[in-house]
Amino acid sequence: MSEPRRILVTSALPYANGPIHLGHLVEYIQTDIWARFQRMRGHQCHYMCADDAHGTPIMLRAQQEGIEPEALIERMAREHLEDFDGFGIGFDHYHSTHSAENRACAETIYRRLEAAGHISRRTITQAFDPEKSMFLPDRFIQGRCPRCGADDQYGDSCEACGATYSPTELIDPVSVISGATPVERESEHLFFELAHFEALLRDWLAGGHVQPAMAHKLDEWFESGLQAWDISRDAPYWGFEIPGEQDKYFYVWLDAPIGYMGAFRHYCQQQGLDFDAWWGRDADTELVHFIGKDIAYFHMLFWPAMLAGADFRLPDRVHCHGFLTINGEKMSKSRGTFIQASTYLDHLHPEALRYYFAAKLGDGVEDIDLNLEDFRQRVNSDLVGKLVNIASRCAGFVRKKFDNTLSGRFPEPAMHADFVAAGERIAAHYEACEYGHAMREIMHLADRTNEYIDEKKPWVLIKEEGREQEVQDICSVGLECFRVLMTYLKPVLPRMAEQAEAFLDVDPLTWESVREPLEGHRVRRFKPLMQRIETEQIDAMLEDARDIARAHARLTGKTEEKDTVPEDSPLAQDPIAPEIAFEDFAGIDLRVARIDRAEHVEGADKLLQLTLDLGGETRNVFAGIKSAYDPADLEGRMTVMVANLAPRKMRFGVSEGMVLAAGPGGGDLFILSPDAGAEPGMRVK
Ligand code: 2FM
Ligand code: ZN
Repeated sequence: MSEPRRILVTSALPYANGPIHLGHLVEYIQTDIWARFQRMRGHQCHYMCADDAHGTPIMLRAQQEGIEPEALIERMAREHLEDFDGFGIGFDHYHSTHSAENRACAETIYRRLEAAGHISRRTITQAFDPEKSMFLPDRFIQGRCPRCGADDQYGDSCEACGATYSPTELIDPVSVISGATPVERESEHLFFELAHFEALLRDWLAGGHVQPAMAHKLDEWFESGLQAWDISRDAPYWGFEIPGEQDKYFYVWLDAPIGYMGAFRHYCQQQGLDFDAWWGRDADTELVHFIGKDIAYFHMLFWPAMLAGADFRLPDRVHCHGFLTINGEKMSKSRGTFIQASTYLDHLHPEALRYYFAAKLGDGVEDIDLNLEDFRQRVNSDLVGKLVNIASRCAGFVRKKFDNTLSGRFPEPAMHADFVAAGERIAAHYEACEYGHAMREIMHLADRTNEYIDEKKPWVLIKEEGREQEVQDICSVGLECFRVLMTYLKPVLPRMAEQAEAFLDVDPLTWESVREPLEGHRVRRFKPLMQRIETEQIDAMLEDARDIARAHARLTGKTEEKDTVPEDSPLAQDPIAPEIAFEDFAGIDLRVARIDRAEHVEGADKLLQLTLDLGGETRNVFAGIKSAYDPADLEGRMTVMVANLAPRKMRFGVSEGMVLAAGPGGGDLFILSPDAGAEPGMRVK
């Protein structure tokens, strides 16, 4: 066997001012798959990431919330990690760009670049908010488009006509922060002389470190000339102060990619790894970055140039991917397709999405579409209908007839050899990030396994005298094929693979472990690994996404409704819905119910599981009231429920009705209780 490779792999660092959504997950899932695959092949692979914790938007958001930026980024990091964990993203270390290690790395890089003459100074004119006494990033200025006259356009480009311009060209500009009219003001900025690195970058790009489509894009950038990059921002700013300067900070994009290094530096200290062996100019390890195509300029020009200028190694591979669309369109809050990771997790299995993304991902930079109906059908057909089905149809016979024991000698060595051989092709697809090809190849093997079982018909043989051995052989083949398939799918479905390992009672599956089939082996009792996805679950997720978007729009004031009631009234936040007919109301059967049991739901952020007594009938209801209650306090209380609501299948089980609760969108919900005298089952009129 050849020497194990030593790989450091990263995903782009998410900003610490917003939640993780499905668009982000395209990247984290694909990097995680790659990292898990490498480890299963016996390589040393360290997956690093961090929150991107600096910059004006984070500073302003903290101000809006009335908290320190440190408190905001700490909370965000916690939320991000919870979401990543929910999707099985197995970082080896998750850090923050606002860390001592990152500061040290950023200062080292800056000092080396400065010493080598790659930093220059020039005075620039910028928009300045006279009320807030701060320079305004382009996105914080709004006005009328100089080209088409559309209102409320940002300082850099017009969403109506696509024009790009400088903020000084906007008509009637205002500061988004204070509403004041910006003035122009001069200030000295520091620049990184990217053009010094043109030859080096051209060389690096010729080395096959980026995908062909990106190399092409980069040629265009070279042609239009490499401009010096403005790396400083004036106070007030949230970031690292530039050493040797007064009131000047590193621009967030300078210390963001350095965050990969900062994270790894921390990890090296924890793990006793030699930092220089990974980042020094002569490092013999691999450095691989996964990024979205929108940040290619930073990772394929600035970043390698900074590394080279500061005497560090260059990346071996920068892998770009496209954006996510949902049902063929950009994610949209009003359509309810701006789906946060936690909203998805409230309704659906994380590995369904991991599988679907894998099935759609290739080495190209095209956008990928999450068509929700296709998602449902594909997951049901491939994972439930093909994969899990193999195990469930064989496990039953093996348990009932053969005491969970497989045949002593593997009956189909040729078939097994084929399956093992396919492993090398599948591995090549994973390595090349052609996960879609890998999934197709694996599903082809699943089809072959199901066909084999269909042809042999163990359910017929089992009824015939003296044919037990054949049945045991068929099921042993089925379960062995299942083991191999689960191995190949383990980078994509790590949690299911773990459950399969428990069922098969085997050591962690690796590419190497497929070579020898299980013989005379005893398995454990089979438990279903995944349920079918129902349309209702998807609908419920979209409904939640819509609610969250509405609540967010109200909070940020981005609502179309006009204020007709006092600003602080709940009605201002949540206007009364359109009128309905009496008949519509009469169709809703509201009943008094007693909460017999209230319990936490494992893995759910907002839900409590309630067992409700309706006066002779018991209902199981999931209610989004977790943030406001300790479950023990609810037990014995009376409430009101919608008793004739169609059961809703949720990720954690079926909800048979709904309790009435009041609260602002997105905040705590308080259940409604009847006065004394009301009994379970009484109708509410
Ligand atoms: O575009 C973004 O979301 C950035 N926060 C990515 C930073 S990646 C790296 F450079 F840190
Ligand atoms: Zn315009």
